Amino acid sequence: MLKRTVTCGELRRENLRQTVVLNGWVNRKRDHGGLSFIDLRDRYGLTQVVFDPEVGEKLLNKAKKLGAEDVVAVKGVVRIRPQASPNREMSTGEIEVLAQELEILNKSKPLPFLITDRSTGLEDLRLKYRYLDLRTKDLQRTIAIRHSAAQSVRKYYTENNFYEVETPFLMKSTPEGARDYLVPSRINKGKFYALPQSPQTYKQLLMISGFDKYFQIVKCFRDEDLRADRQPEFTQIDVEISFVEEEDVLKSTESMLRQVFKEVIGIELVNPFPRMTYENAFKLYGTDKPDLRFGMKIHKINKIADKTDFKVFKSVINNDGIIAGICVPGGAKLSRKGIDELTEKARILGTKGLVFTKITENGLEGGIAKFLCSAIKEINQEFKANIGDLLLFVADQKNITYPVLGNLRLEVRKKLDSIPTDSFKPVWVTHFPLLEWSEEEQRYVATHHPFTSSVPEDMKFLDKEPEKAHSRSYDIVINGQEIGGGSIRNHTVEMQEKMFEVLKISKQESRKKFGFLLDALSYGAPPHGGIALGFDRLVMILAGVGNIREVIAFPKTTSASSLMDGCPTDVDKQQLKELGITIKY
Ligand code: AMO
Ligand code: AMP
Repeated sequence: MLKRTVTCGELRRENLRQTVVLNGWVNRKRDHGGLSFIDLRDRYGLTQVVFDPEVGEKLLNKAKKLGAEDVVAVKGVVRIRPQASPNREMSTGEIEVLAQELEILNKSKPLPFLITDRSTGLEDLRLKYRYLDLRTKDLQRTIAIRHSAAQSVRKYYTENNFYEVETPFLMKSTPEGARDYLVPSRINKGKFYALPQSPQTYKQLLMISGFDKYFQIVKCFRDEDLRADRQPEFTQIDVEISFVEEEDVLKSTESMLRQVFKEVIGIELVNPFPRMTYENAFKLYGTDKPDLRFGMKIHKINKIADKTDFKVFKSVINNDGIIAGICVPGGAKLSRKGIDELTEKARILGTKGLVFTKITENGLEGGIAKFLCSAIKEINQEFKANIGDLLLFVADQKNITYPVLGNLRLEVRKKLDSIPTDSFKPVWVTHFPLLEWSEEEQRYVATHHPFTSSVPEDMKFLDKEPEKAHSRSYDIVINGQEIGGGSIRNHTVEMQEKMFEVLKISKQESRKKFGFLLDALSYGAPPHGGIALGFDRLVMILAGVGNIREVIAFPKTTSASSLMDGCPTDVDKQQLKELGITIKY
């Protein structure tokens, strides 16, 4: 075989007259003027190769039979392209290689879709032939970004004295959070391992073992409903540190993220990252993951609403509800249809409706303008709106008004097509409630997870009013996406047992499920805390893509299957027998 001396991405003017060998795939072929041209592709780029009858008719005829994605080796001489044809879009666009020898290493069958155009072939087909889709420029780029990000993360933690420690994939099932993936044991029939939803307990045990600073880039498995930013198996940057408080974890995570953004995409993130309490995030942005790339904060306007004669507002005020609004800059240009769509969206989100008015040269116009005229001064003061803006209002109970407006804020921004794509806005969200009431289970469940500690001054609420307690947890949000979350943990047996009690996990049950952790906490556990970042989501942001499948080499579909190898599949009866499992349909 003719072995490559250069890659397809490296030849320049300086290499003029050199004899080189290239290996790669036929990206595109065209014949004209009696010559044959191919763009040869490998991971590094594209190089134009010319077959000229003057070099050899036989060679030219062989080249003419090449098809897309055939794998070839070409030996030839580097020359400058004729004046008219340099290609500025190709890094090798100034040169071409005049072929002298061609070796066909392997032919390709006709392709199910074009490698050069990702709009050919629906996603299902592309997932079936994932190894072909991975040849495309888009996926070659995201996988490269993923690699650089992982290296940058490893470098950061290594330079800062962290150990990367592997933790088991076969572990004890401790359902508290998402659903576990179970693995049957052949040797211990009828018993199961679970795949880790995260290495949470192990990293705490490592702190108890004295390892002090741990990180791991690690696969996690959760059997949950999937969405554009969720996969059943995904990767975390998992971190735990001893003898720390919130501040230490936040600072170290920020430095890591600043380094990664700088090294991978050349972006300087703000220093320090802004912080916001959960309460403020909810009241200003209607969500615990605010997108700070644009303003449009939510304003509560109960006082102003009370001055109007609008019946809906009155009745909501009488029912202790919240009336709030957002001012959409330039939103007055939104069509009636656009506003109707927003209203429909608001209804789907669970409120009765949406009211609006527009700011025009003649004052308020449209929607509920006539009811608001009496309060125009206050409205102007509150929203500082300009001519051409749109005001949107929702009136409902607190737990509806804010999230609905939070959603509409994002929706209207999309409609006006004005989210800047090259801006990166991180924010810490802190001071979450420790617990949430679960209607389904009729008990409190941990907002973050059961190992998260309560703010010390809120411990007094744990017995009688647990919903009032806040946790020592924090989320890192970038551009409205939850990238990571963590907390300071319960490091004494008493704190951890108290938490189990509040969660209505009996002494017996907590011993059964978490006895090993409780035991470990009783042998001198240091105060510790940490965080885990969704690595796939981080790469999505770095690469500027909207779907998690774009950053994972071999992803699953939203129904948790792999279209390429067809898993999950049936297994042999013999395999089931060995495991002592019978399937009942
Ligand atoms: P948490 O459950 O918040 O915390 O997970 C951390 C981060 O992982 C990402 N993530 C996911 N990404 C893709 N697909 C999924 N199905 C998925 N689920 C979660 C999110 C999330 O912010 N052990 C704790 C962390 C700690 O307390 O240290 C934990 O796992 O970006
Ligand atoms: P997502 O909505 O995709 O960001 O899901 C991640 C969220 O699910 C986390 O922030 C947790 O609140 C919750 N969660 C799911 N499984 C677990 C688990 N095993 N441990 C802790 N939290 C979990």
